[in-house]
Amino acid sequence: MKKSILNGVMGGVVAALVSSAAWAEPVDDELVIDGDIKMVVRTKAPEGHPFDEIRSGWQYRTKETRALEVDSFNNPGMLRVEEGEGIWNTADGTEGKSCADCHGDASESMKEVAAHYPKWDAQSNRPINIELMINKCRTERMGAEAYEFDKGGQKSLTAYIKHQALGTPVSIDLTQGDMQSWWEKGKEEYYTRTGQLNLSCSNCHEDNAGNYIRADHLSMGQVNGFPVYRLKQADLVSLHNRFRGCIRDTRAEQPKAFSDELMALEVYVTWRGTGLSVETPAVRN
Ligand code: HEC
Ligand code: HEC
Repeated sequence: MKKSILNGVMGGVVAALVSSAAWAEPVDDELVIDGDIKMVVRTKAPEGHPFDEIRSGWQYRTKETRALEVDSFNNPGMLRVEEGEGIWNTADGTEGKSCADCHGDASESMKEVAAHYPKWDAQSNRPINIELMINKCRTERMGAEAYEFDKGGQKSLTAYIKHQALGTPVSIDLTQGDMQSWWEKGKEEYYTRTGQLNLSCSNCHEDNAGNYIRADHLSMGQVNGFPVYRLKQADLVSLHNRFRGCIRDTRAEQPKAFSDELMALEVYVTWRGTGLSVETPAVRN
């Protein structure tokens, strides 16, 4: 299937940003990590999704970038996962406890767990993600301070926990609490044009998935690889940092990390990737 020029109703700005001449199919390669873990990088979309089929951002990256995810030893994000393992085993806070003191071996206690986040948190009456769950245990159970956004061990510990779900298909439970209304709110945000450029998430990741924007091959904007290792930054990049970056690129005001806006977006966009394997730490450019 060949895409015609620009799909959807596009403003002049998008037409200028997106180069329609350079539309390319994502590759159909399969991703098997360490010759052992078969990843779902392409699957049937969940019911109610605008696409028939969804694909991981991995399929849109270059051959060289894709190769970095195939072998854990070559994946530069794995160093930060190891750092996360160190934090897991280190006592912190007034209780003198480590994560491991309560949760034991993460490869068992955290196996597949992150594939089902965000979850409903009855206590705070809002969805909770892995970063906030870590902060909850730190403050309520360890007598330690919450990590500030992207600081301390937040990214590496989140990557370590998500990595325990490597290969597990993403699926979140929208029947818990008010998850469904957060999903609706996230969906509304996804389709709302913002900023001086007047662009919505869908203008890029739905209408133009497959097109090139400057030198970048636009993907469906999936979240299954986060935190991802970005070659450009030579570091892990958290999901809310990525959201904020995409919003900044439309020249709109950026909501704060873990704000209601970005939590709703996380619920909705995670659902859009239902069935794709958790890839953390994915490698992206
Ligand atoms: C004193 C014991 C204790 C310590 C220390 C502790 N936790 Fe927890 N943690 C719990 C309990 C109990 C729960 C389940 C109840 C809840 O959801 O609050 C939990 C739940 C979790 C969950 C959600 C698991 C799931 O199945 O959804 C994650 C993730 C988590 N902890 C991560 C951590 C991390 C990371 C650390 C270290 C920074 C840590 N915890 C330290 C007791 C602890
Ligand atoms: C002007 C176009 C544009 C808009 C608007 C935009 N993005 Fe992006 N986004 C990009 C580009 C370019 C990339 C990097 C290439 C790729 O993975 O698509 C990206 C990457 C992403 C990724 C990482 C995908 C991966 O596999 O690592 C996510 C998640 C994402 N965007 C979500 C969003 C959300 C949510 C919105 C709306 C708040 C949004 N984007 C709005 C251009 C855009």
